[in-house]
Amino acid sequence: MSTSSNPLRDAQDRRLPRIAGPSGLVIFGVTGDLSRKKLMPAVYDLANRGLLPPGFSLIGFARRDWENEDFAQIVHDAVKEHARTPFREEVWQQLVQGCRFVQGDFDDDVAFETLKSTIHELDAAQGTGGNFAFYLSVPPKFFPKVVQQLKKHGLAEQKKGGSWRRAVIEKPFGHDLASAQELNRIVHEVFPPEEVFRIDHYLGKETVQNILALRFANTLFEPIWNRSYVDHVQITMAEDIGIGGRAGYYDGIGAARDVIQNHLLQLLALTAMEEPASFEADALVAEKTKVLGAVRLPKDLGKETVRGQYAHGWQGGEEVVGYLEEDGIDPASKTDTYAAIKLEIDNRRWAGVPFYLRTGKRLGRRVTEIAVVFQRAPHSPFDHTATEELGQNALVIRVQPDEGVTMRFGSKVPGTSMEVRDVSMDFAYGESFTESSPEAYERLILDVLLGDANLFPRLREVELSWQILDPIEQYWESNGKPASYPAGTWGPIEADEMLARDGRSWRRP
Ligand SMILES: NC(=O)c1ccc[n+]([C@@H]2O[C@H](COP(=O)([O-])OP(=O)(O)OC[C@H]3O[C@@H](n4cnc5c(N)ncnc54)[C@H](OP(=O)(O)O)[C@@H]3O)[C@@H](O)[C@H]2O)c1
Repeated sequence: MSTSSNPLRDAQDRRLPRIAGPSGLVIFGVTGDLSRKKLMPAVYDLANRGLLPPGFSLIGFARRDWENEDFAQIVHDAVKEHARTPFREEVWQQLVQGCRFVQGDFDDDVAFETLKSTIHELDAAQGTGGNFAFYLSVPPKFFPKVVQQLKKHGLAEQKKGGSWRRAVIEKPFGHDLASAQELNRIVHEVFPPEEVFRIDHYLGKETVQNILALRFANTLFEPIWNRSYVDHVQITMAEDIGIGGRAGYYDGIGAARDVIQNHLLQLLALTAMEEPASFEADALVAEKTKVLGAVRLPKDLGKETVRGQYAHGWQGGEEVVGYLEEDGIDPASKTDTYAAIKLEIDNRRWAGVPFYLRTGKRLGRRVTEIAVVFQRAPHSPFDHTATEELGQNALVIRVQPDEGVTMRFGSKVPGTSMEVRDVSMDFAYGESFTESSPEAYERLILDVLLGDANLFPRLREVELSWQILDPIEQYWESNGKPASYPAGTWGPIEADEMLARDGRSWRRP
């Protein structure tokens, strides 16, 4: 789908890298945390891998009173500190030629006019061809303002003759269904739907894309990927850190909105969906929306959902404060730093199979995984005592860190008696491939420049995800408060009880 076409290239040849055509990227909020740690380093890594066009341009927009040289220095420092690939002077020298800084507030019309003339200047000097993506790495309350300014100053117009303008919108996309729809209305007044790229950086991860390969490129798993063999599925995203300096963002949002609504429901959709007709964006989205649309909430939200808040405790040998003692947090806050919910999927493949989703901060360790847990063998010819150490078979997709897949099954313990115990078989990216995985943001920024929307949630998916979460948030709002759990543990006891009532327990990842 590259805008540049080379007659000697066969688009079907997978050995050829996908290289972006002439283009540039404007980052709003370029001085922010995300931009320094992820976006600017990802741009450099793409340049270093030869995946950006020679005249690629990067415009930073923020309030600081910087000259272009100051900005170049900031990009340089961010790249040196956070880039994945080695620093090469010649790559840097080429990249820096297209770096510009525009100073201004989002209200500042003059600044947007300067942005416009900067884009024209780069089109002429760097050959960017009028193709620009606008990355809104700004606090969510400014999303509407920035897109409206782009419209007002004629920056969002799709030009006849093929040049494009795209909007990249960070999460969260709204804080409930109504606000997501309203935001969408505003964004679509300015950009056509196919030019809007909503970021869910989980979809940029290799391990997440590998769910599709695992399921649909193999014959081994499909026959057992259903209610006849699967007992339940556990999807976990655990963080060991607290809220850090992000009190302003986090309080009032909480774990379920921050992680379940987007990342975990996307993982659920990829794990549970039917095989798409192709890997085109439309075919993928059709299957994902079908399965999200079939998600059913439990009848008793009090029993089948749990929210928690970390209290004072120990993490990695250090004493840490509880959420309510964190800087900038209202001591009466009811914001959830842990959330666990049980969902079911009303279709032939999954009827009756619970999907347990949980996420939290200040948990035992940083890990994201999907565990498909299988039923026990219908009959055991072994003595009960011989299988005491045998659990349920499981296939665990390790999303991060230590990326890979583990299969757990029973095996005979060597010796004269027939004793069976769990063992595991492992696939690790680091051992099977010599190439290290690109950062999610590298893949996603490249896809934006190529106009490839496969890995970006469409509006309908975002809406369906809010439809799933809204009733839970409303229930929590009017019932009780979060259960407490000591920092460094695996969440509140209530979450263990929730699974115990079903005769199950959480995996210790
Ligand atoms: N940080 C993460 O790890 C992360 C992860 C996932 C998603 N996100 C999302 O990414 C976005 C950015 O996050 P962040 O952590 O980078 O935020 P941040 O550190 O607070 O940065 C916000 C940026 O917006 C700029 N800004 C704020 N108000 C402005 C105004 N009125 N006019 C012009 N510029 C203004 C700031 O510029 P000044 O420096 O000039 O104030 C700064 O560059 C948010 O939507 C967030 O939800 C972040």
